[in-house]
Amino acid sequence: MRSALLIAVVLFLAWLIWHLASGDTATVANTGAGGEELRVMATPLRMSSSLECAACHAEVVAEWKASWHAQAYTDPEVQRLSRGFEDKDCLPCHLPRPVLETGLANRPLERDRRHDEGVDCFTCHFAPHTASMVGKGPLTAAAALAPCQPQVSNAISSMGLCAPCHNQHKVHEEWKQTSYAQPGPNAKDCNGCHMPVVQRAGGRPGRSHLFPASHDAVMLRSGVTLEGRVTGPGGIEIAVTNSGTGHNFPTDERHRAVDLEATFTLKDGSRVSRRIDRYRNPYRTEFEIKNLLRTPGSSRDAALSLGASGEVTLHIVREEARGHPPQTIVAYPETTQIPAGETRRYVAALPPSVQAVQLSLYYRLQPYQPDHEATLLHELTLSLH
Ligand code: HEC
Ligand code: HEC
Ligand code: HEC
Ligand code: HEC
Ligand code: HEC
Repeated sequence: MRSALLIAVVLFLAWLIWHLASGDTATVANTGAGGEELRVMATPLRMSSSLECAACHAEVVAEWKASWHAQAYTDPEVQRLSRGFEDKDCLPCHLPRPVLETGLANRPLERDRRHDEGVDCFTCHFAPHTASMVGKGPLTAAAALAPCQPQVSNAISSMGLCAPCHNQHKVHEEWKQTSYAQPGPNAKDCNGCHMPVVQRAGGRPGRSHLFPASHDAVMLRSGVTLEGRVTGPGGIEIAVTNSGTGHNFPTDERHRAVDLEATFTLKDGSRVSRRIDRYRNPYRTEFEIKNLLRTPGSSRDAALSLGASGEVTLHIVREEARGHPPQTIVAYPETTQIPAGETRRYVAALPPSVQAVQLSLYYRLQPYQPDHEATLLHELTLSLH
């Protein structure tokens, strides 16, 4: 018993001496990263700009440069609203230091250099405690000599990497309530939708650093469906469903607005356009915007006047989510955004003067963006004859 203990102590001391003598690395429990043990590199990282990564990660750098992360500081809209970042509160998310410096899920500190790099490579990958770039791996032998001193860490896959900036308007809270956030066949985290798999030169799979979302028409269209059918003489039914967005649609930013519009072709050949509904999280000052369908399953009636050509009556139903649990935590009660899996259904009775209806679903980056600048998500025409 005692000799076993002695052997253990001797072995430990031998290991310790070898370990200290070898000198190049040490192992620490790095609480700032994903919880696992990471090596602390002997040499500090000698890189300071995301542009230096291009020599070896050219494709990633090109994607990132075209992304909104790279433009988080230079974005004219952000510059305008922050009065050229006179408002210092905007800096931690739009010109950040590494997230792993303050730790997952904690807000990063602000950076004071490389303004044109916005949310840069260091923000997501650099673990200052270890002087290394953390990635998902698996790494090859080439990693040992790489100047970025890469190592594998769970931190890169944690949603705590995105949350400190992106939960600003409760995107994470919304996502957590969907079945995407549960283990199972439907499971999809932020990266599952926003970092699609791409082929890198050399055949290795990579993940897109473009982070497609609200500025990407294909991504926008994948998030929502528009259906319509004629139900009988003068009757149509329309359904708008959040079918592929992992959180409320439209998402996050109070600037965004999605409009369901109808253009009615009348018997005399004239056309009249009306907005049927608007989905959006209103600005704090827009007290007049009320969410009239506060609970799933609720409904209301409305009417659209076509002037002398009559009136369209609407029965609007907020249907319960399919494929997702009901959203129970609602941060903004007046929002008319559509939670994941929910449908807004419109049962419409049209006056006899209407011959056809063209339905259009527009995505606006801000509520006053005109149709010709907005993204037309889906369009369909219903003929009543
Ligand atoms: C807690 C982090 C955080 C802070 C603080 C923050 N932002 Fe942002 N901001 C974000 C994130 C994340 C996005 C991207 C999400 C989105 O587009 O909805 C964003 C997007 C924006 C956009 C939209 C850009 C576009 O694509 O149209 C504007 C404008 C903006 N922020 C301005 C500001 C201003 C001004 C401040 C300071 C008053 C500020 N932000 C403070 C995290 C933050
Ligand atoms: C001189 C070439 C070189 C430069 C410059 C370089 N890297 Fe690397 N990087 C590598 C190599 C080689 C690997 C390992 C690839 C492998 O194992 O197949 C790597 C791996 C990585 C990984 C891990 C990827 C994964 O699969 O998980 C990350 C993250 C990374 N680098 C980030 C950076 C960043 C950020 C910069 C710029 C600050 C940078 N690198 C600059 C060569 C480089
Ligand atoms: C340090 C803060 C920060 C971190 C960390 C961060 N982001 Fe962002 N992200 C931003 C800001 C700020 C913007 C908007 C920049 C702009 O439009 O001016 C943005 C934009 C985006 C967009 C594009 C939105 C659009 O307008 O098209 C997506 C998608 C996104 N981030 C996803 C992620 C994901 C997923 C993660 C985690 C892997 C992540 N972000 C980590 C701050 C951050
Ligand atoms: C099932 C796929 C899916 C998942 C999971 C998902 N998203 Fe999205 N996201 C979308 C789609 C589709 C859009 C575009 C539609 C929209 O803007 O509402 C989008 C839009 C966004 C935007 C753009 C907001 C804006 O107004 O510019 C941000 C930021 C974003 N997502 C962040 C996240 C974050 C953070 C997570 C994880 C908590 C996440 N997303 C999970 C599909 C997904
Ligand atoms: C908003 C956070 C974010 C930013 C900014 C970011 N990355 Fe990544 N990166 C990730 C995540 C998350 C993964 C791992 C995705 C996965 O495989 O699960 C990743 C994966 C990688 C990989 C391996 C996969 C591939 O696509 O080849 C490399 C290399 C890499 N990043 C380099 C960079 C470089 C270089 C930059 C700056 C130009 C950068 N990253 C900026 C979050 C980010």
